[in-house]
Amino acid sequence: HMACFFRRRIASKLSRCLGLPEDTFISALCAIPVSKKQQSPDFRLSVKALLSKGILPDNGDLEAQTKTLANQLQQDDVVEEIFAGRGVIHFRVSRIQLVQKVLEQSRKERDKFGMKSELLKGLKKGTTVVEFSSPNIAKKFHAGHLRSTIIGNFIANLKGSLGNNVIRMNYLGDWGMQFGIYSNTRACVLQVYVQVNREAENDEAVEQAGREFFRQLEQHEQHAMALWRQFREITVSEYRKVYKRLGVHFDVYSGESFHQKQAQEVVLRLQTQGLLKTTEKGTGVVDLSPSGDMSNYSTLLRSDGTSLYITRDLAAAINRKEIHNFDEMIYVTDKSQGNHFQQLFQILLAMGHLWAERCQHVPFGLVQGMKTRLGEVVFLEDVLDEAQARMLRNMSQAKTTKEMDDPEDTAEKVGISALIIQDFKGPLVSDYKFDWDRILQAQGDTGVFLQYTHARLCSLIRLHGEEDTVNPSLLLDQRSVLIMQHLLRYDEVLYQSACDLQPKHLVNFLMTLSHLAASAHRHLPVKGSPQAVAQARLQLFSCVCTVLANGMRILGITPVEKM
Ligand code: ARG
Repeated sequence: HMACFFRRRIASKLSRCLGLPEDTFISALCAIPVSKKQQSPDFRLSVKALLSKGILPDNGDLEAQTKTLANQLQQDDVVEEIFAGRGVIHFRVSRIQLVQKVLEQSRKERDKFGMKSELLKGLKKGTTVVEFSSPNIAKKFHAGHLRSTIIGNFIANLKGSLGNNVIRMNYLGDWGMQFGIYSNTRACVLQVYVQVNREAENDEAVEQAGREFFRQLEQHEQHAMALWRQFREITVSEYRKVYKRLGVHFDVYSGESFHQKQAQEVVLRLQTQGLLKTTEKGTGVVDLSPSGDMSNYSTLLRSDGTSLYITRDLAAAINRKEIHNFDEMIYVTDKSQGNHFQQLFQILLAMGHLWAERCQHVPFGLVQGMKTRLGEVVFLEDVLDEAQARMLRNMSQAKTTKEMDDPEDTAEKVGISALIIQDFKGPLVSDYKFDWDRILQAQGDTGVFLQYTHARLCSLIRLHGEEDTVNPSLLLDQRSVLIMQHLLRYDEVLYQSACDLQPKHLVNFLMTLSHLAASAHRHLPVKGSPQAVAQARLQLFSCVCTVLANGMRILGITPVEKM
């Protein structure tokens, strides 16, 4: 990454001046977010942070120390300006070098833009299991499952693009009472479940029949198993269609049903390890309280000997470790399951599975008011249909829609990006209120705006073509330089997202890039400019276009080239 080139350059100055290895300073040097101020610096180094980490001796006067250090550092033809302020040293690099390095990298790396950064190479790599989506068969699919699907997809994309071996896993809720309730309604399982659930709520007999059927299932009775298999197949094939529309795929479809037998083995092991206690009611529990007073415990066995959700999760985790030998595992569910996963990891550790230290739950908040014309969201498909229909309606007002090869397809992709951007803007753990009109706005920080900016740049490049080498001195205007400065942050932004698994860093970065690009597009015409200027600008726009597309793909958005 070109940012690394500049970081190295600055770090070597610091290294020479302070007699410490260059690497001490590499990660302490941050690219500065762009501002409208002319000639703003590009990198900052917090002297305060160096002091608090004990890297530099603290002499009690931060300002003086910062100034002295800044004065000792020599400027050169790459790092043109160095100045101190409030415990921070600022560095401004040569504009011509900046432009040149960015263009060079975008030409050379394209799809891999920024990915070769030293910063990103420093991240641990290995096999990562990402478990996400995980709906319950024959039960309500809610907005939370949509969130899990797109968040998990993002995490898997990000981990993959950073060089990990990623296993995308869907852990279906395919074992439980709900199958009993459906035993009489086989083929139309997808249409009737709302009604049947409602009936079950009010009707003891339906509930009772369900329980009885599930008992038969647990005993693996043939008739019951055949029906269950049928439900599972119907549902999975429906889900596959919707995942395809979302551009999401899974390497493994597992499910709770796979781990019933192993769950019983886990219970036995817990028993021999002396970790399982039997209560007066006959249930099997693990005491998780530090003082052993059962103030925090988890039930693993019902009094009738059947397993619970957490028992199957224990078995599933152990089984995945055996099969995939992962280095880390990530579970994506809503935050209400936080406690479940803490208990799960705690029990695994107590059993001696130290790899549970590298298991992680990524929690997310609730979506309020996700409604379609059909009412409260029931099927993922309805949400996608609604996004597409609304987008198509909005697009029909634009004249370019007629020139599109497949307006429905474009509307779907743009509609989905609107959903994703809205969902990824804030911290994942926050709840948010869903509002169709707001997420589909053409202006502002929306997925529509992002796609629109990308498509406009694509059409510009289609129209004019681009040249191989250009003169960087033709891109020294403020708007071009702001874009280049902003691109310096790309690797840091990916780094942040990789560390906390939050997409908001990347979303904000791409939004700012779109706004900068839209402004540049308005003010830096290609058509009618002298040939060399036109070529230079095209190169700039092409670079932005590539980074937008790469970033969108990591988020799980398919960039459209016309809209
Ligand atoms: N099927 C569950 C639900 O819909 C989510 C499963 C999460 N993953 C797990 N390993 N427990 O609530």
